[in-house]
Amino acid sequence: MLIDTYGRVATDLRVSLTDRCNLRCTYCMPEEGLQWLAKPDLLTDDEIVRLIDIAVTSLGIEEVRFTGGEPLLRPGLVGIVERVAALRPRPQMSLTTNGIGLKRTAAALKSAGLDRVNVSLDTLRPDVFKALTRRDRHKDVIEGLHAAREAGLTPVKVNSVLMPGLNGDEAPDLLAWAVEHDYELRFIEQMPLDAQHGWKRDGMITAGDILASLRTRFDLTPEGDQARGSAPAERWLVDGGPHRVGVIASVTRPFCAACDRTRLTADGQIRTCLFATEETDLRAALRSDAPDEEIARIWRLAMWGKKAGAGLDDPSFVQPTRPMSAIGG
Ligand code: GTP
Ligand code: 5AD
Ligand code: SF4
Repeated sequence: MLIDTYGRVATDLRVSLTDRCNLRCTYCMPEEGLQWLAKPDLLTDDEIVRLIDIAVTSLGIEEVRFTGGEPLLRPGLVGIVERVAALRPRPQMSLTTNGIGLKRTAAALKSAGLDRVNVSLDTLRPDVFKALTRRDRHKDVIEGLHAAREAGLTPVKVNSVLMPGLNGDEAPDLLAWAVEHDYELRFIEQMPLDAQHGWKRDGMITAGDILASLRTRFDLTPEGDQARGSAPAERWLVDGGPHRVGVIASVTRPFCAACDRTRLTADGQIRTCLFATEETDLRAALRSDAPDEEIARIWRLAMWGKKAGAGLDDPSFVQPTRPMSAIGG
């Protein structure tokens, strides 16, 4: 079991498969991209599968999410999914992607054993998409989304980050579109995890702003008792249901007290939190032939050091040096 000093138990492992991406979202990285990790520093497919095996057999991990950068850029993705599906106990498996290339791979991912996908889509307007991501790939994302639904990678969730002056007014249009196409839309508050360190709290669109904007067109009723457990999204029924919309208010309503996550970076570092300022190296242990029990011990010890939360409101808050694209969302 991966337990921390606050009694939280991590059952959800997020695995970053690459720090590279084929988009350049302004809230994530600069136009010129970043200094990517060197190939020898990346975990191999075998190393990744071995770590996930240890996580499910010895550490109580029940769900594995593949992230990036953009995980579809990892050549061995389908093979990794297939091998993880063969592990016992078999974890739930999901993927967070920008959707580019999903049209081509959705069916193969489904037959390899992937359960579901979350796709980032911030706008319905191709010109705004181009301004926001600095790439003209809107059509590919829409096609990827539809392919995921056709392949049965459901429920397909759509993640949207709203930026003032770009797509800030699009919440109701995005929701109408998601309801029409049967996607579960979630709005995400922008977090200070951009490589440029340009995030400003007073420049972000909050969960409160988003709900007010949605209520100009939809009737929203809280789903259940709003106890979201360890799920980041708070959800509302749209016009009485059955469709829902979620808001992930990581900044204004953090959910750290119920956090059930542990993270593995593409270069084999454990991060106990998105906002962790320290990491624990598993790659060195792997490459010095440490037995499974030793790796599990290092992982347990790392989790014991997990801090209470993101601490965005602490005067001493410092943004982690590793950007979102190299942590995994
Ligand atoms: P499901 O709801 O199970 O599909 O997963 P998810 O919402 O965790 O997945 P996804 O990768 O789509 O993440 C959506 C947003 O939630 C991203 O912006 C993440 O950065 C954010 N998020 C995910 N995990 C954490 C976390 O541990 N802490 C915080 N603050 N935000 C997180
Ligand atoms: N703040 C909030 N969400 C972000 N994402 C990327 N960078 C940020 C940020 N700084 C989103 C992506 C993707 C999800 C995994 O995280 O748009 O949907
Ligand atoms: Fe968990 Fe850290 Fe995210 Fe809070 S900010 S929910 S502690 S990973």
